[in-house]
Amino acid sequence: MSLIQEIDYGTPESKSEKLVTLTIDGAPVTVPEGTSVMRAAMEMGTQIPKLCATDMVESFGSCRLCLIEIEGRNGTPASCTTPVADGMVVKTQTDRLKRLRKGVMELYISEHPLDCLTCSANGDCELQDMAGAVGLRDVRYGYDGARHPNPGIDASNPYFTYEPSKCIVCSRCVRACEEVQGTFALTIAGRGFGSVVSPSMEQPFIDSECVSCGACVQACPTATLNEKSVIDIGTPEHSVVTTCAYCGVGCTFKAEMRGDELVRMIPYKDGKANRGHSCIKGRFAYGYAHHSDRITKPMIREKITDPWREVSWEEAIQHTASEFKRIQAKYGKDSVGGITSSRCTNEETFLVQKLIRAGFGNNNVDTCARVCHSPTGYGLKTTYGTSAGTQDFDSVEQSDVILIIGANPTDGHPVFASRMKKRLRDGAKLIIADPRRIDLVRTPHIEADYHLPLKPGTNVALVTALAHVIVTEGLADEQFVRERCDWDEFQDWAAFVADPRHSPEATEKATGVPAELVRGAARLYATGGNGAIYYGLGVTEHSQGSTTVMAIANLAMLTGNIGREGVGVNPLRGQNNVQGSCDMGSFPHEMPGYRHVSETATMEMFEQFWGRPLDSEPGLRIPNMIDAALDGSFKGIYIQGEDILQSDPNTQHMAAGLAAMECVVVQDLFLVETANYAHVFLPGSTFLEKNGTFTNAERRIQRVRKVMAPINGYEDWEITQLLSNALGYPMHYDNPSQIMDEIARLTPTFAGVSYEKLDELGSVQWPCNEAAPEGTPVMHIGGFVRGKGKFVITEYVATDEKTGPRFPLLLTTGRILTQYNVGAQTRRTANVVWHEEDRLEIHPHDAENRGVRDGDWVKLQSRTGETSLRALITERVAPGVVYTTFHHPSTQVNVVTTEFSDWATNCPEYKVTAVQVMPSNGPSEWQEEYEELSKAARRIAEPLVAAE
Ligand code: SF4
Ligand code: SF4
Ligand code: SF4
Ligand code: FES
Repeated sequence: MSLIQEIDYGTPESKSEKLVTLTIDGAPVTVPEGTSVMRAAMEMGTQIPKLCATDMVESFGSCRLCLIEIEGRNGTPASCTTPVADGMVVKTQTDRLKRLRKGVMELYISEHPLDCLTCSANGDCELQDMAGAVGLRDVRYGYDGARHPNPGIDASNPYFTYEPSKCIVCSRCVRACEEVQGTFALTIAGRGFGSVVSPSMEQPFIDSECVSCGACVQACPTATLNEKSVIDIGTPEHSVVTTCAYCGVGCTFKAEMRGDELVRMIPYKDGKANRGHSCIKGRFAYGYAHHSDRITKPMIREKITDPWREVSWEEAIQHTASEFKRIQAKYGKDSVGGITSSRCTNEETFLVQKLIRAGFGNNNVDTCARVCHSPTGYGLKTTYGTSAGTQDFDSVEQSDVILIIGANPTDGHPVFASRMKKRLRDGAKLIIADPRRIDLVRTPHIEADYHLPLKPGTNVALVTALAHVIVTEGLADEQFVRERCDWDEFQDWAAFVADPRHSPEATEKATGVPAELVRGAARLYATGGNGAIYYGLGVTEHSQGSTTVMAIANLAMLTGNIGREGVGVNPLRGQNNVQGSCDMGSFPHEMPGYRHVSETATMEMFEQFWGRPLDSEPGLRIPNMIDAALDGSFKGIYIQGEDILQSDPNTQHMAAGLAAMECVVVQDLFLVETANYAHVFLPGSTFLEKNGTFTNAERRIQRVRKVMAPINGYEDWEITQLLSNALGYPMHYDNPSQIMDEIARLTPTFAGVSYEKLDELGSVQWPCNEAAPEGTPVMHIGGFVRGKGKFVITEYVATDEKTGPRFPLLLTTGRILTQYNVGAQTRRTANVVWHEEDRLEIHPHDAENRGVRDGDWVKLQSRTGETSLRALITERVAPGVVYTTFHHPSTQVNVVTTEFSDWATNCPEYKVTAVQVMPSNGPSEWQEEYEELSKAARRIAEPLVAAE
């Protein structure tokens, strides 16, 4: 295995369809118009020396190393800034060019520190390479030239260093930050010889606007910006291509290794979701994989108050199987169930639901997607026929108007946000519907054309008001609707939205959004060209989550914004494999491929293949399992990779339900909060230690490849297999590709998927079958999957969670860039530098009314419970709205969220809780007790871990 070296073509690819033929060094080459001579030469295998050019950013032409001669033209132009022309005759290597290049390199080297042998980039430095490429043997000016300003090394960022003395001021970092990441955190300060790269206002990186995406580090040709891991370990010597295990963007990375040690994660340019970019989490926050908190040996205990007892895998598996058998014999076959993980692979998820349906003999399987995007599944299946987003990420490059509803892409889906920001800088218009002033409302070089700051819980009223304007002002695409949708249903729906009670003026009181803003935004979306909708949990996690998804689907059909590039309805999925866990049949009513358990033909096919009778009645959802546990009828649960105690609503209720069970099995990396209620702990494996696939928000199935052996001994799918065999339902897979073959055989939308195809194509987007052998980037072209698009009437029903004198504020929740979900992974990395605790964002007016100052402890109280955290006073939230994240168990904001949930899917209403905020002296009593309990749980486990 060797290090995968991707070719650097020097300048970005031209998208032109017109071809141009020129001659380079006597050989003809044909490339798209707009290609640089440098890239054309590289396409034919000729690498022109370069320093300031790299193909992730536009050319700049500053280093003058890439000079060429062109027949019939004077001078020696830079090949990186010279576009090709038909009939052009180019020479890349003449005596004059060699002389000039050597002269340039002499100047660079004369003022560069010559500590190559001890430099962390030795062997991985383009300056070194270019010295070799131009044949530099001597430096006429000596090696004692003045140095660039050298204020010392800035090591303030936990993941990379900045050593200005090594800087050649090529500006690749500055351009990467601007063009690829879109943060504009870097500038070149000073002039001439004294110029130097500067983060923000000449601040240390940690205090600057830098978001630690790593694009500048990747772009830097020298050791000026370098990963600390490379400085510590050395340069990598082999690499494996795999997929990020954090969010639903699904970035592809090269895991670069030295032996079996991971040196760094480098975003892969061929990755179709990320196109060579990354965010801080995938790029740097992988240290949790070797954190000392990891549990690597199975543990069991009789009661949850007992200390853990470390046991062999054999004992743990036999004990678990006999417990489940005992429970089923005593309480009936429906008394047990399981939860699949949206963090695990498709293959692992498939096996867990198979174990439950065929091994346990019931459909009591659910997943954390229940608490995030289940309304997406319901809403898009009802209206379009498929439970998934309609576009690929590339599609955003063709969008003219982008409508973001209830999503915060720069924090939640940062790499896609960077691609979106690029399109916005290039001229696309932006509408944002969100209670908060998210970053995209106003960020460098981007300002939203409309920000609709709606009150939490009023999405349906707002989206229906947008439709009202489009219908009543005659802005609908009638031809599209007549051709592609059910016309009768449309007419009923159009009459409904046209009712004056749905006008922006009539709904203004409920939504809080001025009517003229709604009218302007509706006109822009309907008439501004390709309109694309992106939405997130701010849409789904409501009592009317499914209704909002259908309202959004209506809006896209109404304007003909579906079925081609640049348009569509796109849920930004939260966890890395939340799409996949839904696809794999993790819900109690659906088999893999979203087929209802009551479909006879489907069930017969599975029964035949799995060799067991299957239940045709839907099983229990997570909240039903907890209720049934409290009723005494549900006694055992197998939870793979999900911390339901922290991620699900109403923590006390969840805790009581778990405590009422006789066998709680948690399979995870750490003793997560749910493990406090577990009788069996089965140590899980990280994405670095397993093979499989993840499916991202674009329905893209991508390989996860093992880069190191699992430190617990097994990949997660192997543990499920062991358990199934012990339960008496045999499974015999040698590797996950065999599981994927079974998925393909049993699931029509996956029929064409195999590891062979994924290795060949890099990735495929489902549906992938005979009709679409290479997958489907954009869905519903020419017709909806369900036939005619269905307009659904979306009556706004205000949530039962109301503000009043006791609870006058509305709490909404979300995430932050550096942390992920319940934080089990990111809290165990250096990312805590940026977010060591959850804070409560509160508007200055609301803070002042309550005598709260920035940083004060406040008590956050709802009808359900209370917690304390520190206040952050900000105008990002409107008066009357407060906001916090849910990354830290010490805050456990879900103790205040309610049990209200989406009417169709039970997705919890996390985004609307009526609360009161008041000053407090510190953590609440229960938080202190909880901290003690958690410490106790860890104290019991620690000697076992240390004894390994
Ligand atoms: S790490 Fe990313 S955000 Fe920070 S300076 Fe570099 S490119 Fe800009
Ligand atoms: S820090 Fe690196 S990329 Fe940036 S200007 Fe200096 S040498 Fe170039
Ligand atoms: S955007 Fe998401 S998938 Fe990409 S690196 Fe960041 S966390 Fe990973
Ligand atoms: S690479 Fe062309 S001028 Fe620097």
